[in-house]
Amino acid sequence: MAQRNGGGKRGDGKMRGGGQFATRMGVVAVTVGSAVGLGNIWRFPFEAGAGGGGAFLLLNVIMVLVVGVPVVCAEFIIGRHTGASATSAFRKLVGERRGRIWGLVGASGLLASVLILGFYSVVAGWTLEYAVTAAGEGFGGKNAADLHERFGAMSADPLRAVGWTLAFLVINYAVLRRGVEKGIERMANVLMPLLFLILAAFCVNSLLLPGTGEGLRFLFEPDFSKITPRVVLSAMGQAFFSLSLGLGCLITYSSYFPKNVPLVRTASMTAGLDLLVAVMAGVVIFPAVFTFGQEVAAGPRLVFEVLPSIFGGMPGGRVWGVLFFLLLAMASLTSTVSMSEISIAWLTREKGMSRRKAVNVNMAVATVLGVMCALSFGCINGWRVCDLTVFELFDFVASNVLLPLGGMMISVFVGWVLSRGVVRSELIQGTVHRSGKQMGCVVSAIVFCLRWVAPVCIAIVFVAGLID
Ligand code: TRP
Repeated sequence: MAQRNGGGKRGDGKMRGGGQFATRMGVVAVTVGSAVGLGNIWRFPFEAGAGGGGAFLLLNVIMVLVVGVPVVCAEFIIGRHTGASATSAFRKLVGERRGRIWGLVGASGLLASVLILGFYSVVAGWTLEYAVTAAGEGFGGKNAADLHERFGAMSADPLRAVGWTLAFLVINYAVLRRGVEKGIERMANVLMPLLFLILAAFCVNSLLLPGTGEGLRFLFEPDFSKITPRVVLSAMGQAFFSLSLGLGCLITYSSYFPKNVPLVRTASMTAGLDLLVAVMAGVVIFPAVFTFGQEVAAGPRLVFEVLPSIFGGMPGGRVWGVLFFLLLAMASLTSTVSMSEISIAWLTREKGMSRRKAVNVNMAVATVLGVMCALSFGCINGWRVCDLTVFELFDFVASNVLLPLGGMMISVFVGWVLSRGVVRSELIQGTVHRSGKQMGCVVSAIVFCLRWVAPVCIAIVFVAGLID
């Protein structure tokens, strides 16, 4: 992926030469690969658990449909039309002077990407630790209280927490240093479907647990009394986070899309698959939560306490456990590499740094932020802003503030500033199964969402959620 980001230098969108994804399948695989990660399997269940289950899921689906898909299309339009990455695409479209204001999207994306990298690495570090434990002592015979204590002891122990975070960051560093080449992408293309299959097997397993009914009711039956402005804001933040939206990641990716890729279809498929994986994770987690007497609103620790209780009771649980956590770490790696690449691309292209130096700077920043997040479960747990620990604060500021604001600017830009002709031609290109009239309706609907629905919705949810 990084290679492709690097290829963006090649300038003019229409002459992108070799820096393109070869097939439509490849385009979908890479975009879904960026979207699917800890956001679906770790973040969605705990956000849903805290936000009332069904009510959160419903809001999340609405947000994905009315805000998520249109903004994904908007990022795709900007990226494919300019063939440039987020920090320079706007300047290319509206000139140096006006481009500066829109460049704020790039700046906030930059900040969001390192904040996310910080807390994401901590969670990815936990997955490594859990993979190693699953391979060694295993999780058999542990009850809910044991697992709760185990997680608490691991995350609060400064050496273990920081050690595993650094272990993950070193892997991330090694991949980035080599230039991402095709290796990691190809590996992800094989491993992501495998993760999907394992998740499907776990779903079946969870559906046979005694707590299935209660778990599924919690996930699918909306309790409207649970809906507060803060829950709506979280559901919107989750949609942005999970779709990798709002910081220009998808602008960069789509600059390598061939012209024959239908953007609306790709956006819908990405959103659909991304939601499916999140719902599957919910179907795995919630029946187990009720079966093993765990706490739905446990926050970031939820998945790490619930999954081991499932493996513990499955035949061959040890193998399942190792496989699952390793695949999750792998899925995280494809996400962190793409996040890191945002600042690396900025440092190399706009600041003239060598790639080697840029990767070092990225690693240094990620290390400082990652260590702070890792320690926030233990010795600096008392450092709080508005009652949020450093870890929670980074997640909140990035997912619920910077990503939605970035998304709002992107949708206003495509809805109001970019010429309608460009929007229309990008959206229509590559579509073969729809009549002109049908596509006309689709284009109008998306433009309407980008002009009115998404910006207004984001603004209201954002303000109401923050003052709640
Ligand atoms: N979407 C990824 C996940 O769900 C995380 C991610 C990757 C991301 N790149 C991003 C989030 C860019 C926001 C912006 O795990």
